[in-house]
Order: sequence, then C-alpha cells, then structure tokens
Amino acid sequence: MDKRVSETVADFILNGDHVSTTPVAGERLSETLRERLGARDVKIGCNAGDCGACTVLVDGDPVCACLMPAQQAAGRAVETLGGLAREDEITQRLSESFQNFGAAQCGICTPGMMTAAVALLRDTDAPDEEQVQDALGGVLCRCTGYRKIIDAVVAVGQAEVPMQAEGHAGEGIRRLDGLGKVQGTEAFGDDVAPAGTLEVVVIRSPFPRAGFTFGDLDAFAEVTGVEAVLTAADVPGRNLFGVIPAFMDQPVFAEEEARFRGEAVAAIVATPEFARDFDPNTFPVEWDERPAAQDVHAAMAPEAAQLHEGRDGNVMCGGFVQCGDAKAAIAEADLTVEGSFRSGFVEHGYIEPEAGFAEVVNGRVEIHACTQAPVMDLDSMEIILGMPRDQIRIIPTGVGGGFGSKLDISVQPYLALGALKTGKPVRICYSRTESMQSTTKRHPSEITLKIGATKDGKIKGFDFFGYFNTGAYASWGPTVANRVPVHASGPYQITDYRAESKGIHTNCPSSGAFRGFGVPQSAIAQESLFDELADKLGIDRLDFRINNSLENNVPTVCGQVFEQGVGIKPCFEALRTAWNDERTDAEAFNASNDTLKRGVGVAGGWYGCGNTSLPNPSTIKSGVRADGTVVLHQGAMDIGQGANTVISQIFATALGIPVAQLEIIGADTDVTPDAGKTSASRQTYVSGSASRLSGEAMRAQILARVNASEDATLTIGNGQIKITDQGSEHVIDLSTLSPDAEGYVLRAEETYDPPTKPLDENGQGIPYAQFGYAAHLVVVEVDTKLGTVKPLKFVAAHDVGKAINPMLVEGQVQGGIAQGLGMALMEEYLPGRTENLHDYLIPTIGDIPPIETHIIEEPDAHGPYGAKGLGEHVLIPTAPAILNAIKDASGVRLTQVPATPSRVRAAIKDNNNGN
Ligand code: FES
Ligand code: FES
Repeated sequence: MDKRVSETVADFILNGDHVSTTPVAGERLSETLRERLGARDVKIGCNAGDCGACTVLVDGDPVCACLMPAQQAAGRAVETLGGLAREDEITQRLSESFQNFGAAQCGICTPGMMTAAVALLRDTDAPDEEQVQDALGGVLCRCTGYRKIIDAVVAVGQAEVPMQAEGHAGEGIRRLDGLGKVQGTEAFGDDVAPAGTLEVVVIRSPFPRAGFTFGDLDAFAEVTGVEAVLTAADVPGRNLFGVIPAFMDQPVFAEEEARFRGEAVAAIVATPEFARDFDPNTFPVEWDERPAAQDVHAAMAPEAAQLHEGRDGNVMCGGFVQCGDAKAAIAEADLTVEGSFRSGFVEHGYIEPEAGFAEVVNGRVEIHACTQAPVMDLDSMEIILGMPRDQIRIIPTGVGGGFGSKLDISVQPYLALGALKTGKPVRICYSRTESMQSTTKRHPSEITLKIGATKDGKIKGFDFFGYFNTGAYASWGPTVANRVPVHASGPYQITDYRAESKGIHTNCPSSGAFRGFGVPQSAIAQESLFDELADKLGIDRLDFRINNSLENNVPTVCGQVFEQGVGIKPCFEALRTAWNDERTDAEAFNASNDTLKRGVGVAGGWYGCGNTSLPNPSTIKSGVRADGTVVLHQGAMDIGQGANTVISQIFATALGIPVAQLEIIGADTDVTPDAGKTSASRQTYVSGSASRLSGEAMRAQILARVNASEDATLTIGNGQIKITDQGSEHVIDLSTLSPDAEGYVLRAEETYDPPTKPLDENGQGIPYAQFGYAAHLVVVEVDTKLGTVKPLKFVAAHDVGKAINPMLVEGQVQGGIAQGLGMALMEEYLPGRTENLHDYLIPTIGDIPPIETHIIEEPDAHGPYGAKGLGEHVLIPTAPAILNAIKDASGVRLTQVPATPSRVRAAIKDNNNGN
C-alpha cells in the first residue's frame, strides 16, 4: 500500500482561535497540534493511548490526542494547556494549586493531568478524592506518586491556598521553576527543534544476539528523502562510550554482532515526510540470529559466548565487604534464617522518551537533549566525535523524568553525528518501544542470604551473595556491584559480616543506574529475613530492628564511624504508633473476613550519598551585576526532584537574601560550572554544599568591603548593596566596581568534594561522607483467592538531616514509594514482551493509597545546614515492607518480585496444600 497519502484540510478552533491546517490522512491530532500548529505544550509519552500525556479537550471532553486523527477535530473546539493557562479561570486557579502543593515535579505529565482535571472541575466544583482518581485515571505520572496531584485538584475546589514563604533553608516554598510546568511552556527534549527539522531514525537489532551485514548503503542514501546513512564507519572518534572509564565497552553502532535486542547498528537522517512512512525493515541489512544467553546462569555456562574480551565467564566485576567472621558467627548463633530472593528488570518508565536536537553553530556542534549529566555527556561526545572539547556544547533541555537512566548517553551521538554529516539541524525522539528496548534498566538479581542471631535478639553473622544481571554492556554495573556489599547489611549493627556481589553480562539491555543502584534488591532479602528472624525469636518485628539499629559512634560494616547523624532509630520510632494501631485494626478486620486478609509490614533502609570512595566534586558559581542582580549558575540538573529550588534556597540562606531575588542560569557546558551528575542522592548534599560555600564566600566579600560583622543584614538591588550592621548602615555603590568578562562586579565560585577514603580489599574504609536513613510501614489487603494485593496506607519516616524544602521532601517520598510499589507488585521488563506502557504496568493514580510522611532531622556533619540526600532512600524500604505485609496478611513469604497475583496465589496455594 502506498503510505504517501494525500493531505486534507482540517479547520477547527484551537484555544479560541480558528485554525486551518493540512494534515495527511490519518495524522494524529497530537502531531498536527505539535508540528503544524506549534502547540508543543501537548506532550507525547507513548503515541498509543497508554500514558495520557497528550490529553487535550475536544468540545470540552478529555481525549488522547495521539489516538484521534486530526481530521476528526474538524469543526470542533480543541483546548490545550497552553491556551487554557492563558484564558481559563479554573486553569489559573488549578495552576496555583499545583504549584502550592508541588504537584508538578518533572512536569512532563502536567499538561495532560491539568487538562483532564480542568474537564472535571468544569463539571464538579469541589470534587472528592475518588472523583479526582476517576477523572485522572488515564494519565500516568512517574514522579509524584499522585498524592500531591490529588491534593491540588481537591484543594482548588475548596479554594485552599497555602501561604508562600520567604525561601530560606527549611521553608517549603513552591518550586522556582514551577510556572513553566503548569503553563505547558517548559521545553523538553522533543520540544526544542523547529518544525520540519530533519529526523534521525535508528536501525536496531530485532534479536538478542545477531551478526549482520549491510547491503548497498550508498544506494539507500540516494533515496529521495534520505539525507545520510550513519554506521560505525561514520564515527570520527572512537565508536565507544560508557559512564565508567575503566569499563567503557558500548559502541555507538554495533560492529559485526549486536549483543542485545534493540542495539543500534545504523541510523538514517531523513526528511520528516520520509521518516513518518519509513519501515526499518526496508533498510538494507541481513541478520544472522545467534544463540543468546539472557540470564546469568546461561551466560556463565561454559558453552556461552563471551560478550567481552577479558571478562571471563561473562563476569563483569564484583564487589566485596567483610568484617569479623560471618561464617563462624553464624555457626555459633542460637538461631539462623536463610533464603533466596529474585527480582527482574525494572524499567525507569519516565513519561518523556529520550529526545533532542542538534545543530552546527559556527563550526561547533550544539546538542540540546534531556540528560542527568551534561558534563559526562560532553566527556563522551569528545571521545566519540574525536573533536576538541571546546567545539562541543551540551545544552540540556527540560528533563521529563530520569531516575538514573538519563545518566547514560542515548540520543546524543546520533544527533551530533547526523548534524555533522549533513551540516543541517537534526532531531530525534525515541518511540516508547525504542526507549524501553535500548536504554538501561534496574539490574535483575539473584540473592542468597543467611543471618544468625542470639537468643536475646542480636544479629550474629550475616552472609550475603548476589548475582546481578548487568546486560550486554557495563553502564553503571560496576557501581551496583560495589554499592551492594556496602549497603546489604541495612542500617544495622553487624560485627560479623560478609557480602559479595557479581555482575554478569547477558544478551539483554544494559542494566544501569536506577534509584538505589542495587540496594532496593539487597534490602528485599535483608528486610524479609529480618522479619523471619524476629518471628523465630518471638520478638516484635519493629523492636527487633530498633534493637539492632546502627547508632552514632558504632562502626558500620565498612568500619566507618559517624559521630553524629545516624537517624535510623528515630525513623523506626516514628512508626511506633502506626505499627501498634494498624496491627490492632488488621487483627480485628481479619477476625471477620475469610478471603480478604490485612497485614502490616515494616522495613528500613539506608543509602550513602554520592560516589563510592571516589572524587565527586560539584562547583557552583554566583555573581552580582552592577545593577544589583544576583545570579546563580546552578548546573545541578533538575530532573523533577527540585534541585533548581533547593540549591537556590541554600545559596540564598548563605548569602542572606530572599531566594526570589535570584536569577538562575541553568546547566549549559558553555556557561555553567560542572555540578556533577544528578545521581546517587548527591545534589542536595554535594552541590548544595558548593552552593552554600559560594553564598558564604560572596557574603564574606561583601562584609569585608565595609568591615561589617557576621550578623549584618544585606539588601541588594538598584545598583547597590546596603549592609545594616549593629544599627549602622553601609552602602556599596556597585557602579564603582569593575565588571569582569561575564559582567560580574562580585563573583564567588566554590567547589565541594565529599571527604571519602578508598576501601581496602575487605571493603573497609570511608565509602561515603554521609548516609540518609528511612523506614516505611505499609498496610496491605490480600485477596487470598485471587492473589491480588492492595496497599491501603503507607507511613514513611525519613531522616534527611535538615529538610531544605519540606514540601519537596514529601514529594520525593511519595514518588519513591510509588516506584517501590511498582517494583514490589507489578513491574517486570521482559525483552521482546513488555516493551510498551500497555504491557509494562506502572502504578496509576488509583494504585497509590494515602502516604503519611514523617521528616526526621538528625543533622549531618557535612551537609549544608545538616542536609542529607534523599532521592534513592525513598524507595529502598518500600518493596520489602510490602512483602513483609503480604506475609503478615496471608502467611506466605514471597521471595520474588514483582509479587504478581499469580505468584501470590501460587504461594498461598502451596502453603495451603493446594487450596
Ligand atoms: S502519548 Fe497519547 S496516550 Fe501517551
Ligand atoms: S511530574 Fe508526572 S511524570 Fe514527572
């Protein structure tokens, strides 16, 4: 069939204006709106009706614009968030409410969420929670855990508007970058290219392992609409990238053999018209499918093909920590428990697929793309392009969620190579399937663990081993291998400890960084067996944990001793009331229900912030212009977690001015110093510390100029700085100071690097300068006949040292719990089977119950104002708490996640002799 169908005319009303456009037959309304009419506030997460990001109103009703042919809009009224935000009173109130509650984190789902909410609010003045869940049920959010979205929509009906605060550390102010998110103006990776830009389409292996040979690429490159073909031969530098220099092993384009399904072998650069109709199966490549090893045991078998030279048995690397003598202690223990635990691949599932735009400007290549690590991207592109570093510029776009996967490069090399080869601007946006096939995942794990205890309930011996399926390429696998043995103890006192991990290559997508770097997997094993041990000892499960909790001045399993800031006990204590009350309630419920059973689970966790025993610096620059503008160069990527706001709050506190006064310049490798990657819960701590130093240095310069005391207050603006000190006032006339090359009359650039020490061969040393601590409680209801598990309530306690912005802390906690819930109950990526958001399930608004958050502040010795990182901690205890609650409710111990209904039901049947 000839797909080059003719154009038709579609006239409709868009946001109050008459528009006439000429979509091709069958063109999606979303494409027409975005590409022909410039409504880039309509977002695309799946193009399949699964995510709801593209929700618009057609004649007042919410529809997925990706499912509606543009012609069907003819003669109708279409409203998108961009138009609603300008004109619609309900939307304006809703946008205030979204900002007040922190209901938009990355913001990629926000246009769809708000548009669906506007339709509800037009019908229903004051909707309740259930009505909001029903109305927004078709829109997915991966960041927020939905609770703040529900709160924001319910509150707009009740006209509740929390007061805006001053903005220093400790105040739960609105995001400084929130307005663009609620008005649909924030530009994400696919929003920056001009319409009509050439497109890059990547050709990928359909097999987990395959040789391949190309046909006549020159002839293909001559096809009308094709501007260029790219293969490994077109990579001018090294056809290689990787996030850890010693483990760089991934080609931009595979050569000779593809090692996983979805691996890139070539790409074309083509006109949008050609790209729309292009079938990758018509690309001239012959495949030779070969036997593939897709689990760790197959990959370690003697007959398995070796994926990488020098990694015998497909063992990428391992990690090891040992103190005391675990085996001897277990042999002497009064009681022991042991178990084996498994988890599968987990997909990050951010709603924004990888996307970007590149162009050559004055001979330099400029890459605009979603990323968590702009300077690491620059490092990679320097190697791949073989160009001087100063000829490459990385300008991050808005990031519609990352959670670890956007630490690795994805679209960047294809964009740069395409722009350089054609000399023209190019763009790319991965399809949902392409994103899921080709980007990193959470490592599947197989863990065995044995723990001993004394009769009085003290842990005596802990012996852990874990295999981690690291996929075809290393990515962050070595980090996972090293982090897991350091963290597998959990935040507990264990004197006789042994933990070993091994990362194994398989013919699967690379496993990489995903919130927790392997620790959520090890926590499942450890926290599950802690319940088993407590039960065997006859000790209350919460008491058992408290009795064994780590404390100040007690060594960790790495021999590290913290004099302050070990906050796990207060976290557990914060759950005490709920623990007692919820178990009493569950017992009463169970007494009168045969099929439905309720249970309560608890679990703890910890996480070391920043790189493991490696340099990890961040640099923050600030400047004051002659007119009195205070500028903060804030390069810590905000991927929704709130770095733009938190780093600014810290700076404003240190300098002593209101945060609203700051002009913020975001990440851009030409103008912003390296604040490191947004990863490993490091930005609040590490970049926050650099920000504090920069603010303090700026303040010290100002005070020194007039010899004022530390307690002086500053007022900056209108070309001057007023310093009020003990009743006297000094004025610095900024016009009298000489501006530097950037126009700053005062500047302060400061770097902070956490004090760590290398680990020895037994993993002893100082892996992290700080840990954060967490404890979760969950109530679940298990249908023992169906095997379904419904979480009814979470209580989460987090020691964050100092909550720089309590509202954002809560948002992180709720979002992390939602991801932990997904991992526990529904998420499993199966290459070739769950490669879209229809088959791969992530939690929806109806899956997340109320979450009560307790913020614990045990100040850290190093963090800014005592603050600790938080991003990873928030999901580490969630899955084990849920598994413990399932056991409490049903009597069965699930040892594999996700605990799907079929697995839960099978376990119950086994336990009940087949019933
Ligand atoms: S983009 Fe339309 S539903 Fe996902
Ligand atoms: S805020 Fe909803 S997906 Fe990021």
